Amino acid sequence: MYTSRIAGLGHYVPDNVVTNEDLSKMMDTNDEWIIERTGIKERRWIDPKTGDSPSTMGTKAARIAIKNAGLTPDDIDFIIFATLSPDYYFPGPGVMVQEQLGIKEIGALDVRNQCSGFVYSLSIADQFIKTGMYQNILVIGSENHSGGLEKSTRGRGVTVIFGDGAGAAVIQRSEDSKGILSTHLHSEGKHAEELALIGPNTGRWVPEIISEDNPEDSSYYPHMNGNFVFKHAVTRFMEVIGEALATNNYKPEDINLLVPHQANLRISQFVQAKMGLSDDQVFNNIMRYGNTTAASIPIAMSEAWQEGKIKEGDLVCLAAFGSGFTWASALIRW
Ligand code: UT7
Repeated sequence: MYTSRIAGLGHYVPDNVVTNEDLSKMMDTNDEWIIERTGIKERRWIDPKTGDSPSTMGTKAARIAIKNAGLTPDDIDFIIFATLSPDYYFPGPGVMVQEQLGIKEIGALDVRNQCSGFVYSLSIADQFIKTGMYQNILVIGSENHSGGLEKSTRGRGVTVIFGDGAGAAVIQRSEDSKGILSTHLHSEGKHAEELALIGPNTGRWVPEIISEDNPEDSSYYPHMNGNFVFKHAVTRFMEVIGEALATNNYKPEDINLLVPHQANLRISQFVQAKMGLSDDQVFNNIMRYGNTTAASIPIAMSEAWQEGKIKEGDLVCLAAFGSGFTWASALIRW
């Protein structure tokens, strides 16, 4: 069997910076509340005039990742695209990336696992590579949240948290022991509606919502039971990181860099303190981008790598938790 390594990383975020001060002009919120509860100072939101979308941002991030891997788009064998905010309801954005990159008619898969989407996708890529089916897989996480958020006081508990952006990684076949050591995937569907966007759905399509014309209806905006999600997140993050370490006989002190899904700075800090990790062992950039769901880990990993915080031989742990609930981790020897 082969191993799979991360051969190249890239990310792209829209230019349009939205500060907490900007949000306070749209809804009853303030910089102090947002920083204290979430750590977020600003996020990027797509300016619709630019034409940016999950697929175009994903393609921009992918071009950088492919270049950093020393490859060209034609070297890619397969595309995996993770998002909860696709360009279209269907088809998913994977096929659009195939077209935008001008790649031959390779397979393209879309993954719907919200905040855990990138780690789930990495796990899928790892299996395809281990079995020898593909050599270079492009994994993308990309989100356009801003287009679907409720920009009023009613939506403030969700809207202030989320940002737009994309990250990409080229997962490559390797014949040495370095690379992805293990991945761990979990779900608990009984909490599906604690963090969800319920409508439109196959029981209640857009025409029905439009015909009801009900201003009280918030079902087509994301809903989050914040406290409930927070409590589950801290527990599951620690469990799934512990699972990755135990599987490979490592301890928290062996981790060179933990790249957690950027859900909330308080969640990352809680996990860091409980696991006894130093500031140098944990990477956070939620302050600048907010929570970008499936894009948050690849954006963070790409920035950490650019800043020299991930080096050859390092032990890197990725961990995510989010809607579903789903949670996942990956342990990588770089
Ligand atoms: O990425 C996927 C996973 N997602 C997460 O892990 C997110 C987990 N949850 C959270 O990050 C936090 O629960 C939030 C940041 C969403 C909320 O923070 P909180 O400390 O749990 O606040 P809360 O929901 O308990 O709300 C406290 C108060 C409420 O007012 P009252 O009822 O105490 O008068 C809210 O109405 O803060 C109010 N509030 C706000 N005030 C100003 C809620 N949102 C805002 C806001 N600005 N944006």
